Amino acid sequence: MRHLLSIADLGADELHRVLDLAEEFSEVQSRDVPKVPALRGRTVVLAFFEDSTRTRTSFDLAARRLSADVVNFSAGSSSLAKGESLRDTVETISAMGIDAIVVRHGSSGVPQQITSWTDAAVVNAGDGWHQHPTQALLDAFTIRRHFGDLDGRRIALCGDIQHSRVARSNIDAFTRLGAEVVLVAPRTLLPPDLEGWPVKVEPDLDAVLPDVDVAYFLRIQNERMGRGLLPSNREYRASYGLTVERAKQMRPDALIMHPGPMNRGVEVDPEVADDPRSVVLDQVTHGVPVRMAVLFSVLGPGQFDQEPPVDQETKARQEPQAGEEG
Ligand code: ASP
Ligand code: CP
Repeated sequence: MRHLLSIADLGADELHRVLDLAEEFSEVQSRDVPKVPALRGRTVVLAFFEDSTRTRTSFDLAARRLSADVVNFSAGSSSLAKGESLRDTVETISAMGIDAIVVRHGSSGVPQQITSWTDAAVVNAGDGWHQHPTQALLDAFTIRRHFGDLDGRRIALCGDIQHSRVARSNIDAFTRLGAEVVLVAPRTLLPPDLEGWPVKVEPDLDAVLPDVDVAYFLRIQNERMGRGLLPSNREYRASYGLTVERAKQMRPDALIMHPGPMNRGVEVDPEVADDPRSVVLDQVTHGVPVRMAVLFSVLGPGQFDQEPPVDQETKARQEPQAGEEG
């Protein structure tokens, strides 16, 4: 894998291999020194042109835990403010000698465009409504951890499908891993044409909840939608929110998921967000090893042909050498 721009960039085997690799890296996280030298000497730039808490922080941690050097590029305080173009910005950063650039941008297609302006590997951290592939990978990882695999699982994706890059990436990833995806949304928040989408549509959340393995709630993308698509948050919650009452219809072993940030009291009630079936914080935790797996896959030596990196140095630090003790 040269770049990760969308879930479609991953072949069938690669999708499984990234998740397996993330499993290996998640073991690294539990070590006293959660660091491996896999990307020592490599430089990763985090270029976020749109706000982020989880994705940016976890890419930063992921790169550092692989021993890469990390540069955080802040769009707001950069020379973009003086009118420099995106292309000149990328070419300028690239000229300093970087290996990977992780990009978030409000416009669909920007990460793809950046591949033609740099030799570095480009990883999409969310572009417009288009794709958020590492979110889908960490979500698939979370479901796989819980149920063993996604094959045959029934997953409801509920909420603002139309403006959601998470929905698009998750539909691709979940269905390719064998899950059945049901979309639950008001007509105004569904794409007008679902031709070719491998999904079912069900308008009634109450009809779906009792027999899903996963109920996945999407944030209302207020920053991306025109006015008048929703009557009010209160009415939205009444029909499409996971209220305390509705959550009672879900099976005890089902999962409640949300990519974050949550609008508590709109997509999910505050109590439900903290329900034992909610794995929202597990999703965040899994973001780090999954992003380690993605960075290693685009930058590691031999990429997928390589065995996961064994950290001799960390081991050496943990296991005193002969003659060092006493
Ligand atoms: N944080 C996710 C994204 O950037 C989901 C969201 O913001 O609703 O797409
Ligand atoms: N889920 C997600 O992408 O969160 P951030 O927008 O905080 O990065």
